[in-house]
Amino acid sequence: MGKIKFTDNSGTFVIENPENYSGLYLPLAGEKELKSSITPTLAGDSKTDQNHFLFEPVSIENLHNNKNGRNFWCLINGSNMWSVSGASAMQEAEKFSKEQDESKIEAGLMWQRLTRVSKKFGIRAEVLSFVPVDENIEIMYVTLKNISDNDIDITPIAALPIYGRSADNLRDHRHVTSLLHRIETKEYGVEVAPVLSFDERGHRKNETTYFVYGSKYDGEKPKEFYPTNQMFIGEGGSFLMPEAVRTGKTGVNPGTKIQGKESTGAFAFGNIKLKAGEKTGYIMLAGVTTQKDTIESRTSLYRTKVNVIKCFEKTKKHWKDKVNIDFEMNDKAVDNYLKWICFQPILRRIYGCSFLPYHDYGKGGRGWRDLWQDCLALLVMEPDMVRKMIVSNYGGVRIDGTNATIIGNGQGKFIADRNNITRVWMDHAYWPFVTTKLYMDQTGDLDILLDKVSYFKDRQSLRGTAHDDEWKFEDGNTQKTVGGVDYFGTVIEHILLQNLCAFYDVGEHNEMRLHGADWNDALDMAWERGESVAFTCAYAGNLKDIAYYLRKIESTDGIRIIEVAKEMECLFRKGKELYENPYKKQQLLSEYSKLCCHNISGETAVLKISMICENLEEKADWLMKNIRENEWIKEDDNTGWFNGYYDNHGKKVEYYKKDDVRMMLTSQVFAIMSGIADEKQIKAICNSADKYLYEKKAGGYRLNTDFKEEKFDFGRMFGFAYGEKENGAVFSHMAVMYANALYKRGFIKEGYKVLKNLLDSAMDFENSIMYPGIPEYFDNDGRGLYAYLTGAASWYMLTMITEVFGVRGELGNLVIKPALLPEQFDKDGKAAIKLNFSGRTLKITIHADIDNIQDNNGVYNKIIRVECDGNELESADLKKVVIMKKRIEEMSCERCHEIDVFIK
Ligand code: G1P
Repeated sequence: MGKIKFTDNSGTFVIENPENYSGLYLPLAGEKELKSSITPTLAGDSKTDQNHFLFEPVSIENLHNNKNGRNFWCLINGSNMWSVSGASAMQEAEKFSKEQDESKIEAGLMWQRLTRVSKKFGIRAEVLSFVPVDENIEIMYVTLKNISDNDIDITPIAALPIYGRSADNLRDHRHVTSLLHRIETKEYGVEVAPVLSFDERGHRKNETTYFVYGSKYDGEKPKEFYPTNQMFIGEGGSFLMPEAVRTGKTGVNPGTKIQGKESTGAFAFGNIKLKAGEKTGYIMLAGVTTQKDTIESRTSLYRTKVNVIKCFEKTKKHWKDKVNIDFEMNDKAVDNYLKWICFQPILRRIYGCSFLPYHDYGKGGRGWRDLWQDCLALLVMEPDMVRKMIVSNYGGVRIDGTNATIIGNGQGKFIADRNNITRVWMDHAYWPFVTTKLYMDQTGDLDILLDKVSYFKDRQSLRGTAHDDEWKFEDGNTQKTVGGVDYFGTVIEHILLQNLCAFYDVGEHNEMRLHGADWNDALDMAWERGESVAFTCAYAGNLKDIAYYLRKIESTDGIRIIEVAKEMECLFRKGKELYENPYKKQQLLSEYSKLCCHNISGETAVLKISMICENLEEKADWLMKNIRENEWIKEDDNTGWFNGYYDNHGKKVEYYKKDDVRMMLTSQVFAIMSGIADEKQIKAICNSADKYLYEKKAGGYRLNTDFKEEKFDFGRMFGFAYGEKENGAVFSHMAVMYANALYKRGFIKEGYKVLKNLLDSAMDFENSIMYPGIPEYFDNDGRGLYAYLTGAASWYMLTMITEVFGVRGELGNLVIKPALLPEQFDKDGKAAIKLNFSGRTLKITIHADIDNIQDNNGVYNKIIRVECDGNELESADLKKVVIMKKRIEEMSCERCHEIDVFIK
C-alpha cells in the first residue's frame, strides 16, 4: 500500500489509499488563468488570481480539515450516504479500519483519476479531474458502477461549494462579502455573481461570475438544486453530513434567485436504478468568467461523456508534448521522477509562489530571482518564447542596478514589492546574466545583448535607501530622460549596470553588502553591516563571464564599441586604490546613483569593448584575490571552507572552533562555481561538507550546521527550528546548485552523490510522503515539503542535461561531454536523453564500454566514436563531441535524429 508505481514513461503513476497520507496534492491548470489544487479526497482550491477564488482558499494545514471540498454523493437505496471522494462522516469514521473503502489515485501531468470502491454498498466510483487547456473551467467526471449482484437505487448529488471572492475576505469581512452574492439557478447549474468586489479603499463593481454546472453523461439536466450552504447542509448539518443528502429533501428549480448567502454548487440528478454490472456517469463543470452570458454555450461543449473524454485526451497530450524531455537510464522510476522535475518549472510559471497549498506567500506574481531561474529550464523546453521573455524582463531593472521584485501577469509588468516594502535583495542582479548566458550558448544569438529595452522606475531611489519625491504615480513605471521621454538601453547595458553597481556596493570588509537578504530570503536581519561573500563570489564569476561574451561579440560580429548611458562612465573607474577602499567604492556608487535618482540626461558615451573587458576582468580578479586571501577558513590540511557572510555586528558568520563549527553551503557553492576555490580547496570543502553537513537520512547536504543561537543580528532563519527550511534543512535548490558547481569543476562523483541523494530521498515515498518531483526541502524526518514550486527543479533538470549528459550549447554549437558514472547506464551500457535543440528533436544515446573502464576513477571520459542517424561523425576532441550549428540547421525538423556517442 502507498508505494508509487508508474504505468508509462510520461510520469503517470498510481498510488493506493492515498488518503491515508497527509499533505498530498496535485496541481490542475490549463493555459488560461484557472489554477487548482486537488487532494486525494478532492479537497483543495481553485482560482484565477488572488481576488478571484472559485473554491475557498486553502493552505497546507487546511487540507486535512477542509471538508468542504469538491464532493459527489450517492444516496443509496434512500438511506445510505456515500461520497465518491471519501468525505462523509461515515467514511471518516471508517478510515484506517477494515471497513475503509479501497481507493487509489492515478495521476499524470495536470490530471487525476480517483477510484473508490465501497464493498459495503457494492459500488465503484471513478472521478476524473482536469482543466481544459483553453478554458477557465475545471472538469470533474464521475462514473459509478454497480459491482454487486443486486440492483442499486441511487440519488446522485453533486456539491461543490463556491467561495466566489478575494482570498483577502477569508477572514476580512467573510460574512459581509457573502451578502454581496447574487445566486441564480439555471437549467444546468448554479451561478454566483457578487455585486461588488469588496475593498474598503474603494469598492468596485464586480464583473466576475463563478459557476458550477452539471449534467448526466448523455447531457441530461440536473433535477433540483440546493444553491446555498444553508439549504444544502441544513440546520446543524455539515459538509460531511449534509441535510440534502441525508434526507433526500426537495430542492429548488432552475430560475431561482437568492441574494446574500454563502453558496454551494449543489444539485441532485434524477434517481437511477443501476443494475448489477451497470455503469453511469456525471459531469461537473466549475468555472470563473467575466462573460456571464457565455457560460451556457461554453459549458455545453462538455456536456456529454464523449466530449469530456475527447477533451481529456487533448489535455493530456498538450502537457505531455510540453514536457519534451525524456530520460532513459537504468531505472524507469528515476526517468519518471525526472519527467515530473522537468514539469515543475512550468508549474512555477503558472502558479508563482502564491497558489498551491504550501505556497501561500503573497498575492500572485512571480519573484525576480525565481523568474530568471525558471527561464533556464524553459529555455530548454520552450526556447521560442524565451528570447522575448528575457528581453522584456530586463525592463524590470532600475537605472541604479536594483530591480522590481515581483513580475506581474503579462510580460513587462513589474511590481516593486509584494508588500510595498523598500527592500533590496543583493543577489537579484546576479541571475539575469546567468540566464542570458545560457540563452546565448543554446542559441548562438549574441545579438540579444544589443536589443534595446526600457528601465523600471518607481519611487524607490538610491538603491533602496531613499525616495524620489519628484516621481509621481502618473509618470508611469519607466525611466525617463530630462526630455521626458522613455530611455532605452541595450541588454548589455542593463547587465553591466547590474553587475558594476554590485561591485561598488560593499561593506566594511570590502565584500558586497547583504542589504535586505541574498538568495537566502531568511538572512534578513543584517541590513546595516551584513555582507554576503557568497554572492560576492557569484558576481565575480559574472564579471569574468560578461567579459568573455563581449569578446565573442567582438570576434564574431566585428563590433568594437558599445554605447551606454553617459552617467555610467564613472562605473568603469579602476585602480587598486579604489578597489581596496570600501568607503571610496560606496562614494562612487552614491555619486552614480545620485546622477540618476530621478530623470537621466539621455546622453550616451561610446566605450570600446576591449576596454570594458579588461576593466571587468581586473575587477573580477581583484574580488577573487580578496576572497581567497581573507575568507578561507582552515580546519586542517584536508578540511576547510569559505566564510560566506558578515553579520550585523560586522563579524564573520562562519568559522571553525573545536566545539562550534559554523559552515554554510551557499558560500561554498558560489566559491566553487565562480572558480574562486582551487582544486585543493574544493576537495577540502567536499570533505568538510561530508563531515558537517551531510546526513543521508535527511536527504543529503544541509544548508548549514546548527548555530545553536537565535542570531537576531543575521536573519529570521535562526528563528526556524534547526533542520527546517532555510535553517539547515536539506534545501534542494542550493543542494542542486552545489552538485552543479561540482560537476562544472570536474568533481563528478561528488556531484553525483548530491543529486542521487536528493532523488533517492524524494523517491522514498513512505518517508518523503510526496508525489513525484523534487520538494523545496526535506524536514528532519525526511518528509518532502513545498511540492512542485521550487527553483531546485530548474537546476536539477539543467544539471542532468548540461552536466551529467553534458549536452549543451556553446554559442549555438551542440556539445556533448558526458559525465555519467557506470551505475547510471542500463544493463546494455546505454543512457539516453531526448530533447530539442535548435528546433530539432534529438535522441542522444551514450554507449559505455561497461567492461572496459579506462579511467581509474571509474568515470568514462574518452569518446571513441560518434554517429548521427547512423553515419559516423568526425570528432576532433576525445573529451567532447562538437556538432556545429550549421550542421544541426541542415537536419530536418520533421523527425527525431539519433545521435550515438560511444565512450570508454
Ligand atoms: C525559495 C524561493 C527562492 C529563495 C529560496 C531561499 O526557494 O523561491 O527565491 O531563494 O527559497 O530562501 P525555492 O523554493 O525556489 O527552492
